[in-house]
Amino acid sequence: MGKEKILVTSALPYVNGPIHLGHLSGAYLPADIYVRYNRLKGNDVLYICGSDEHGVPITISADKEGVTPQVIIDRFHKINKDAFEKFEMSFDIYSRTSLPGHHKTAQEFFLEFYNQGILKEKKTKQFYDKKAKMFLPDRYVEGTCPNCGNEEARSDECENCGALYKPNELKNPKSKISGGSPTLKETSHWYFPLAKFQTRLEEYINEMNEKYGWKENVLQYCRGWFKNGLQERAVTRDLDWGVKVPLDSSKGKVLYVWFEAVLGYISATKEYSKNIGKENLWKDYWQNKKTKYVAFIGKDNVVFHCIVFPAMLMAWNDGEKDKYILPQNVPANEFLNFEGKKFSKSRNWGIDVHEFLDIFPADPLRYTLASNLPETRDTDFYWKEFQARNNNELADTLGNFINRTFTFVKKHFDGKVPGKKKLDKIDNDLLELAKVSSKKVGELFEKYKIKEGVFEAMQLARDANKYFNDSEPWATVNNDKDKCGTTLYVCLQVIYTLAEIFYPVIPNSSEKIFEMLNTESTEWDKCGEENLSPGHTLNKTEILFKKIEDDVIEKQIENLGKSNSTVVNENGLVTIDDFFKVELKVAKILAAEKVEKSQKLMKLKVETSNGERQIIAGIAKDYSPEDILNKKIVIVANLKPVKLMGQVSEGMLLAAENEDGKLKIIEVDDSVKIGTRVK
Ligand code: 2FM
Ligand code: ZN
Repeated sequence: MGKEKILVTSALPYVNGPIHLGHLSGAYLPADIYVRYNRLKGNDVLYICGSDEHGVPITISADKEGVTPQVIIDRFHKINKDAFEKFEMSFDIYSRTSLPGHHKTAQEFFLEFYNQGILKEKKTKQFYDKKAKMFLPDRYVEGTCPNCGNEEARSDECENCGALYKPNELKNPKSKISGGSPTLKETSHWYFPLAKFQTRLEEYINEMNEKYGWKENVLQYCRGWFKNGLQERAVTRDLDWGVKVPLDSSKGKVLYVWFEAVLGYISATKEYSKNIGKENLWKDYWQNKKTKYVAFIGKDNVVFHCIVFPAMLMAWNDGEKDKYILPQNVPANEFLNFEGKKFSKSRNWGIDVHEFLDIFPADPLRYTLASNLPETRDTDFYWKEFQARNNNELADTLGNFINRTFTFVKKHFDGKVPGKKKLDKIDNDLLELAKVSSKKVGELFEKYKIKEGVFEAMQLARDANKYFNDSEPWATVNNDKDKCGTTLYVCLQVIYTLAEIFYPVIPNSSEKIFEMLNTESTEWDKCGEENLSPGHTLNKTEILFKKIEDDVIEKQIENLGKSNSTVVNENGLVTIDDFFKVELKVAKILAAEKVEKSQKLMKLKVETSNGERQIIAGIAKDYSPEDILNKKIVIVANLKPVKLMGQVSEGMLLAAENEDGKLKIIEVDDSVKIGTRVK
């Protein structure tokens, strides 16, 4: 078969927090294995990813910290990009949707639809939070269900009784952002007519499934959406963080994050093309009918990748401009849970990728996750399983086979590949198995059955160990050296095959094995052959996999679910001793200025018992510097210093919000001396 042109994307992760192991299992590791495999096949692969940097949650995080959204996205873009690098993700580019090039592409799509006349403008009433000065997305409004009285009902739907209602029917609506009561306010938005594409989308998915075999879980989600009937969707939002709607009449509005995020794949490819000096290369992927486009995602993204994005591309293709290809497959995974429960930051349940890779190398994690991917149903990560897969499979099976072969060859054959004399059935069988296994592993990877492929690869290592035992080279070395040489010749050829078929899964270890073999990888299709010639000199051996001790794993399990604060007991009460751990002291404000580029932060110089110190306080929206000079206030004097927007803050001042949501600083009578403890 000729070489294929393959475009692969992994969902662009939101950048309002660090990625955890669940993300890796959903959309990243399977894609990376698929990509690395296809590169070894000699296919022309382009692998695209990047940060999804818009949306309401980012603005809320920024507000909480009193910084701009840019600060949040810069922080987590770096953390996630570095974590992916450490995890050996082989993206051709890791881009970001905040780049001007992406804004331009997203606006082009919007304008194309607008000019085609398919977008409709509609007026609606939406919940508006006066305190937070923003329209509230559905999930930020809670109230009492008009049907069953459930007090945690959503703005238009009750999860308790299943009732659907209009936002104005929800009783006692509350904003989850400010806690205040939102009001309904009129606004207007642009709507994309998804319903008009339903028939074509159904045909598209059926055709792709017939030709390329879509995963059953993905088909089921799609059928569910079709059965309910597709609805028009608003593609704009009232927000100031995002891609601006490119119309004078829509000032202050941005494109809905999902509308533009999926286009991030295209803009990232454009950026990649520009970076390598071939500005039009992106068209060769996105606008070339011969390209096979595979989009890797987690199950929560199915509707956007199988329905919304294809509909947008169809709509574009209905126009006069150059046409785009659609995904040929969307092999979405289910979720990975952690030790039997969902990942949760607030409950400290789970582990972030960058934290994991500070403790353990990437390969054992890649192997463990790959062996247990949620391909057809949710699966779990267990620390004990991680330890067992590393110790029993990587170290004791794969590592041990390689190690014992190398040790033997070094000791008895001068570190050179022995010649093969007569091949017996047992020898031919293993050589044949290497050929068959590499083919099988490849076919499974091609069908997105990564988990099975990885199992097959380890099975070859198991069989090779058995072959080593059955051939008894420790005996033949004394009574039939030719036979012994043949056994080791066969073992080395199989090590070569293992290095290649494991490369997509554990690339660092595989590279080490090739280094030990003193050679390089070949094309996948040839890796099951006899690739090492007799007489070829091997390099020195390296330890491939270190065992993980029980205490290391137990420490991780112990920390799980423990809150970082040990102060509050189960009833939410603290003891007087706990309270006195916090040193509250009277301080005087000596100087104040606003922190540059922050709406909320003010830099204060205050004096307290042990001299002057700097405090960064989130009061700039409610006070100006001159209002607060010389005030006597209360500070937390023994707070661990932190950096906010690059400035050190050595403490915190006490303040309370009044009815209008304005902060009021707690002031102390002038007769109380600076530095006095507040009790
Ligand atoms: O689920 C997520 O993390 C989304 N940010 C995925 C977006 S994928 C694509 F649209 F960019
Ligand atoms: Zn209800």
